[in-house]
Amino acid sequence: MAAKLRLEGKVAVITGGASGIGEAAARLFAAQGANVVIADIQDTLGRSVSASISPPGSCTYIHCDVREELQVAAAVALAVDIYGRIDVMFSNAGIVGSLAGVVDLELADLDAVLAVNLRGTAAAIKHAGRAMVAAGTGGSIICTASVAAVQAGYGPAAYCVTKHAVHGLMKAAAGELGEKGVRVNCVSPFGVATPLMCGGVGMSPEDVEKVSCEAAVLKGAVLRTGDVAAAALFLASDESAFISGHNLVVDGATTVVGTSLGFALQNHLARSRSGGE
Ligand SMILES: NC(=O)c1ccc[n+]([C@@H]2O[C@H](COP(=O)([O-])OP(=O)(O)OC[C@H]3O[C@@H](n4cnc5c(N)ncnc54)[C@H](O)[C@@H]3O)[C@@H](O)[C@H]2O)c1
Repeated sequence: MAAKLRLEGKVAVITGGASGIGEAAARLFAAQGANVVIADIQDTLGRSVSASISPPGSCTYIHCDVREELQVAAAVALAVDIYGRIDVMFSNAGIVGSLAGVVDLELADLDAVLAVNLRGTAAAIKHAGRAMVAAGTGGSIICTASVAAVQAGYGPAAYCVTKHAVHGLMKAAAGELGEKGVRVNCVSPFGVATPLMCGGVGMSPEDVEKVSCEAAVLKGAVLRTGDVAAAALFLASDESAFISGHNLVVDGATTVVGTSLGFALQNHLARSRSGGE
């Protein structure tokens, strides 16, 4: 007998699902039995990704600018209309926005990043949460935060602020929605070579992966979109049935170590010893 698929019978909405991490999640969730609604602003790309996802008919695209609350509400309503329910909201749409340092930051530019990364996530949690609570069948909401939600130094000031705020919003929502059986978690990736990352730093995917590998504590693995999608899949599935209010950091131990004086001292000692031999 074939093993049960991990999201069999579930319906997921994925914001920012036309590209990068969201696209990988859309493909993986559908492969694991879910029906998926991709909600994005890249209509041509979103439609072609949606059409290429198998099995046929398991994915639908909707234009949804997460800065517009009514469009987020419409994406949730579409999932319920077409597929009958919503079990998973993967609130993943995000932008890097202004690269300015904090003393040069135009506050209008801060507002622009907040509008997508924080307000968009708030709208996704609000409307998915409402539908899940109304249905009374529980659900899983996953927000893409970042290592920039854990430490500074992983992105510009505005981005860092918004991702810390997403982490806080997730905790508030997990506290409120828990008693209704709805789980809320974050997934927080380290550097992945996606259009957002490569465009943000002006580097090729190969160079981003090289730099990311050099900066990560864990060696011997390259973080790719599929790894982040796999973490989101775990949080979406019933395998994480008692996990809520958690930030699943996918960073190969990098933020728990940070800039390590201990490692620097060890390396220095090792170099002096080998130089002395
Ligand atoms: N790539 C990384 O290194 C990295 C690291 C940590 C966190 N993240 C986060 O991962 C998430 C996904 O980014 P990605 O790296 O896959 O980049 P990506 O550019 O490939 O995907 C982002 C998607 O969000 C969509 N989007 C942007 N603004 C939107 C809006 N207003 N409404 C709806 N959709 C919108 C884009 O069209 C795009 O499809 C983001 O929240 C990002 O902050 C990425």
